[in-house]
Amino acid sequence: MKTGMLGICGILAAAVVATSAIGDGHADKAIEAAVKARQSQMTLYSFNLGILGGMAKGDIEYDADAATAAARNLAALSQLDQSRLWPQGSDNVALGADKTAALPAIWETGSTAGEKGMALASAAIDLEQVAGDGLDALQGAMGAVGKSCGSCHESYRQKNE
Ligand code: HEC
Repeated sequence: MKTGMLGICGILAAAVVATSAIGDGHADKAIEAAVKARQSQMTLYSFNLGILGGMAKGDIEYDADAATAAARNLAALSQLDQSRLWPQGSDNVALGADKTAALPAIWETGSTAGEKGMALASAAIDLEQVAGDGLDALQGAMGAVGKSCGSCHESYRQKNE
């Protein structure tokens, strides 16, 4: 059972509801806070994935408990309700590239960002199941997680030039 995944479907659906009051000081603050929060969530993804990736590559000694903890964190993070983190008007055209790397395509009709978020949650839950079962099992389940991060960045995050 993939519990908690329904919340993720709301990621970007709910974003459409959010403020259109650009120029209003409160709205600007709220948007900035949301951007900061989602970037922080990404940082936490990255931190936990870094531990797992370090073990998978042999840079960090494999430790079943530590691997399980990091994978559990990743799965839990990926299941948070992000509906408030992606308000309309928080893309890099509206705010500027120095504030956010989120591309407007996230909010456009036909956006698959919500599905990509769900793909991460699903891969992270699979990883959590096996991360403590040895290095081979960890390595086997890492690819799908890494791909789910990369696939969303490929479509929806501004590349560093
Ligand atoms: C559903 C799409 C999506 C998924 C899945 C996703 N990301 Fe992101 N990520 C983004 C977007 C969009 C940004 C830019 C956010 C911004 O600047 O407002 C971003 C930014 C980041 C950043 C930079 C944060 C900062 O401080 O600016 C890191 C690091 C990151 N992602 C890591 C990850 C990792 C690791 C995973 C997988 C475990 C992941 N992301 C999964 C869309 C995604």
